[in-house]
Amino acid sequence: MKVTVVGAGAVGATCADNIARKELCEELVLLDIKEGFAEGKAMDMMQTATLLGFDTKISGSTNDYSKTAGSDVVVITSGIPRKPGMTREELIGINAGIVKGVTENILKFSPDAVIVVISNPMDTMTYLALKSSGVDKHKIIGMGGTLDSSRFKFYLSQALQCSPNDVHGLVIGGHGDTTMIPLTRLATLNSFPISNLLDEETLKKVAEDTMVGGATLTGLLGTSAWYAPGAAGAAVVESIIRDEKKVMTCCVALEGEYGQKDICLGVPVVLGKNGWEKIIDFNLNDEEKAAFSKSADAVRNMNAVLDTMTV
Ligand code: LAC
Repeated sequence: MKVTVVGAGAVGATCADNIARKELCEELVLLDIKEGFAEGKAMDMMQTATLLGFDTKISGSTNDYSKTAGSDVVVITSGIPRKPGMTREELIGINAGIVKGVTENILKFSPDAVIVVISNPMDTMTYLALKSSGVDKHKIIGMGGTLDSSRFKFYLSQALQCSPNDVHGLVIGGHGDTTMIPLTRLATLNSFPISNLLDEETLKKVAEDTMVGGATLTGLLGTSAWYAPGAAGAAVVESIIRDEKKVMTCCVALEGEYGQKDICLGVPVVLGKNGWEKIIDFNLNDEEKAAFSKSADAVRNMNAVLDTMTV
């Protein structure tokens, strides 16, 4: 198996590091436009191989896509991250051109690759990658909901004072501070409904903290987070490479599911060797349906910006 991570910044490097530690592939390529940067990160990581005991061969490349040829999965992290006070949506102007170019270059050398999009604004970048490439919809996957669900479970575990690993919960909708929808009604602690264990006010606070989870970290770090985004990218890659059929929230093309079409949005999907294999089209209650439709409207408005740009 071969995996490429495009963008050797903090998120891309962390994602690659996780992929190598888990030995998800024999060959891992890190690619960046900055001269020598991916080569340096790859070499640094390879020097951890004997310390961490992994056998994945990591190599770096400065913008030479021929090195990525024959990749089974490609993760796109390219683009600029947000700074404190910025929304993910404000990055569209710069990142759209970058993501489109990266997708084209990747497909030249790996036409059958499953593409995992991390670049922001993630829902729009996933839509752009799908529309501009015309590849099978099952092969274009935005990672955002996996990260947001992980943050949701973290905040729930803090409120419950329990292990995050005992918490199950999903965040659906867009990967934006106002577009994501933490499904508090359906979250469980080892199968017990959390809505019976926490009061309304606490649940509301958990949902709010989850929605601004990325912004909170950007405020603290001065740039966008990388440990959880990188790990979430690797978790998506793992379910694909190992054909695990895990259910994770990912941003995928909707064609009527959840009442939406011509949009990529976060919904629970089964992830296996063919990319996203199935959408779990769960019947939301009226309040959740309204939130999903509002989220779709906001993402659709953002997607419309692509038409006004020459990308
Ligand atoms: C975040 C960025 C990666 O949520 O979107 O941290």
